[in-house]
Amino acid sequence: MNESTLNSLPEGMPTLRVMPMPSDANVHGDVFGGWIMAQVDIAGAIPAARRANGRVGTVAVNSFLFKQPVFVGDLLSFYAKIIKTGRTSVTVNVEVYAERNRLQADIVKVTEATLTYVATGEDRRPRELPTMPAV
Ligand SMILES: CC(C)(COP(=O)(O)OP(=O)(O)OC[C@H]1O[C@@H](n2cnc3c(N)ncnc32)[C@H](O)[C@@H]1OP(=O)(O)O)[C@@H](O)C(=O)NCCC(=O)NCCS
Repeated sequence: MNESTLNSLPEGMPTLRVMPMPSDANVHGDVFGGWIMAQVDIAGAIPAARRANGRVGTVAVNSFLFKQPVFVGDLLSFYAKIIKTGRTSVTVNVEVYAERNRLQADIVKVTEATLTYVATGEDRRPRELPTMPAV
């Protein structure tokens, strides 16, 4: 195998878990990059919308690396965390791990991306992020 397998998933609960089906792949069973991008966008929007306390729109995909292929039947775990906030924007890093051959629990990091979301109002225009409650 030309990929480094891990013994376990990162600590903490993944933001999203999903398994690609045959309709998400080409005839060889390799999952389409666009399908993975859509799932990453969904996962990244979860912490962004929480921080924005409302709707967000994706303004930029800053980086996107497909480190390893994804296959039909891989169980994918998406870990999304906020790495930066601005006046209206939230930048999120998303790491994706695949559990292959689930009975043997081979875990591989397959994708890493950084996306920026903008808090928007009813008019779909940028809106200031709410202040964080004091802890
Ligand atoms: C998101 C949207 C409302 C932002 O409106 P805008 O007038 O372009 O926004 P602004 O120029 O005021 O920038 C808003 C924030 O985005 C950030 N931003 C804009 N372009 C960016 C880029 N290329 N990379 C990173 N951040 C960017 C700005 O720095 C600003 O952040 P800050 O307020 O924290 O400093 C608008 O661009 C839009 O509707 N885009 C389409 C969104 C969409 O439909 N996405 C799904 C894919 S089609």
